[in-house]
Amino acid sequence: MASHNFLFFGILIAICSVVLASDPSPLQDFCVADPNGPVFVNGHTCKDPKLVEANDFFLSGLHLPGNTSNAVGSRVTPATVAQIPGLNTLGISLVRVDYAPWGINPPHTHPRATEILTVIEGTLEVGFVTSNPENRLIMKKLEKGDVFVFPVGLVHFQRNVGYTNAVAIAALSSQNPGVITIANAVFGSKPAIANDLLAKSFQVDIKTIDWIQSKF
Ligand SMILES: *[C@@H]1O[C@H](CO)[C@@H](O)[C@H](O)[C@H]1NC(C)=O
Repeated sequence: MASHNFLFFGILIAICSVVLASDPSPLQDFCVADPNGPVFVNGHTCKDPKLVEANDFFLSGLHLPGNTSNAVGSRVTPATVAQIPGLNTLGISLVRVDYAPWGINPPHTHPRATEILTVIEGTLEVGFVTSNPENRLIMKKLEKGDVFVFPVGLVHFQRNVGYTNAVAIAALSSQNPGVITIANAVFGSKPAIANDLLAKSFQVDIKTIDWIQSKF
């Protein structure tokens, strides 16, 4: 009897962890975010359904190129719950990424989402790295119309490997996927992580760390 209970709870825990691996499923048609809601919940509180309108589910402008005049030569234009309150609780979002020639989307990770990306214009070299201890790099060159998947949490990047602009559209399995850009998080935190700690982590001298930190 006891072992049956163990089995039952084991299965229950297994099922629960699968469900909790992505954004919670909505328990009503929609829960349009009320950004001024005073209550802290896992997501945003719901706007009164009677006050919900089409514009809560709408965003325009994703046809417009993002400004890639920056150090990395790329720009992400998001369409997440921050831009579309109707995405609240729905577990999905979209981004447009523009790349200048040879521009990169630097190594980063989305703590809450798997990403599926398609190339609209240009040619991208993309990749992700598996977790420890293998840290295997999985890379692919993508042409217009190609699709590639970056599994949730893994560090990934893209690079425009052409002399023209490139454009990609990516869908993410969270209303609020989050993004941690590795270099910014490690070298650009406020306050800064101790330079001797980073020197030991990266096996370089402290001056090199100071120099990198000054870039962020
Ligand atoms: C793009 O960004 C650069 C750098 O911030 C800025 O100087 C430039 O005016 C921007 N271009 C457009 C079209 O907004």
